[in-house]
Amino acid sequence: MEIYKFAYQIINDAGKVIRESIDEEIQIETKSNPNDLVTNIDKETEDRLFNNIMSAYPNHRILGEEGHGKDIKDTDGVLWIVDPIDGTLNFVHQQENFAISIGIYIDGEKYAGFVYDVMNDKMYHALAGKGAWLNDEQLKPLEDTELKTSLISTNPLWLTKEKLSDIYVPIVDDARSTRAYGSAALDFANVAKGITSAYLTMRLQPWDFAGGLIIAEEVGAVVTNQLGEKLNILEANSILVGNKSIHHELFNEYFLPHKALLEQIHNDRFRGKS
Ligand code: IPD
Ligand code: CA
Ligand code: CA
Ligand code: CA
Repeated sequence: MEIYKFAYQIINDAGKVIRESIDEEIQIETKSNPNDLVTNIDKETEDRLFNNIMSAYPNHRILGEEGHGKDIKDTDGVLWIVDPIDGTLNFVHQQENFAISIGIYIDGEKYAGFVYDVMNDKMYHALAGKGAWLNDEQLKPLEDTELKTSLISTNPLWLTKEKLSDIYVPIVDDARSTRAYGSAALDFANVAKGITSAYLTMRLQPWDFAGGLIIAEEVGAVVTNQLGEKLNILEANSILVGNKSIHHELFNEYFLPHKALLEQIHNDRFRGKS
């Protein structure tokens, strides 16, 4: 419980620092391509969280998107998986709709998840086995829904890909409607809150899903990759998260028929690469 309260506090504080500097000029750099951005605030926030954690718990380990713990290859001990700003493009273009996301795992087991919607001061948090909350309000167990009467979320990019469009177009066609929020962590939080029924995407990194996974599972969401397998918190993977029945429907009726293609994509992209 001590770690949980500490994590809540440092994430809250880091969010406050971001809010207070939101009107200041930011430095933007590109990473793997011209649309893959990182700002000084992403890096400063990760450094701030890293320093806070290290000064309180010097033997904990931290895997962060912006460089900390790149050599981590196992889940021994207390592992913090940190995305200092999830939704950097929203941060840069909108100055809102981004989150600080943290998942804490102890010897590979879920311990606590946090997704902090910074500009709206909404902290989604969960303690494994004990429940999930939005600020002080406990989130309710998810109700089952069917795709045809559900809102789902995904990245529209997948509809533009030649082979993947065979999978994604029918899903988008059959859903009541589809949203694209631009922050995977908030996508998980939205499913946990029940305002979308499922989130599906072809590729996330551990820091994109480590926090949201714990929150979503605490309210009964099913979280797997698109082959129906459990996620490994140290590896990139595809994602299918939703309430129990829509997950079952999406997996069995939309993903399973494309198993061979998905196996090939997973083997090429994820297997043996960490
Ligand atoms: C990104 C966001 C986005 C998802 C990308 C992620 P970042 O994280 O979560 O919604 O579609 O795959 O990389 O880079 O803004 O932390
Ligand atoms: Ca990024
Ligand atoms: Ca991210
Ligand atoms: Ca990020």
